[in-house]
Amino acid sequence: MIYEVLRAGNPVLKQVSEPVEKIDRRIRRLLDDMHATMLLYNGIGLAAPQIGKNIRAIVIELDEKRYDLINPKILKREGKSVDTEGCLSVPDLFGEVERSEKVEVEFLDRYGKKKKIWTEGLLARCVQHEIDHLDGQLFIDIAQSVHRGEEK
Ligand code: NI
Repeated sequence: MIYEVLRAGNPVLKQVSEPVEKIDRRIRRLLDDMHATMLLYNGIGLAAPQIGKNIRAIVIELDEKRYDLINPKILKREGKSVDTEGCLSVPDLFGEVERSEKVEVEFLDRYGKKKKIWTEGLLARCVQHEIDHLDGQLFIDIAQSVHRGEEK
């Protein structure tokens, strides 16, 4: 099913989400629905709070590769970069956000298997943006500047 994406101002987006306790068919269906919702709205990442569920689950799709991250945790960071971000919960606004250039992230996959990957560039940015959603933070809360439209 396709979910409605909550907009900034909704209190659900400001909460710290709870870890996923049980990884079963229900959570896999939720991840699939999040993925379908994200693609429909042309996003590259979506976090569960954005569809009204305060649990620590994220989907990302970049370069035709899909990532399902459950209970993600950043273990290491390297470098800094500033780039433009947007968010399906903040339509029409874009902002310049400083992030770590590379992050090592540990997570459970959709079958509950523990994984650890190094990410960099846009994928690393996306991972950090989505994990922020799990901690109740939007990019507009930390952006150096915010503007309308994609151009600076
Ligand atoms: Ni977002």
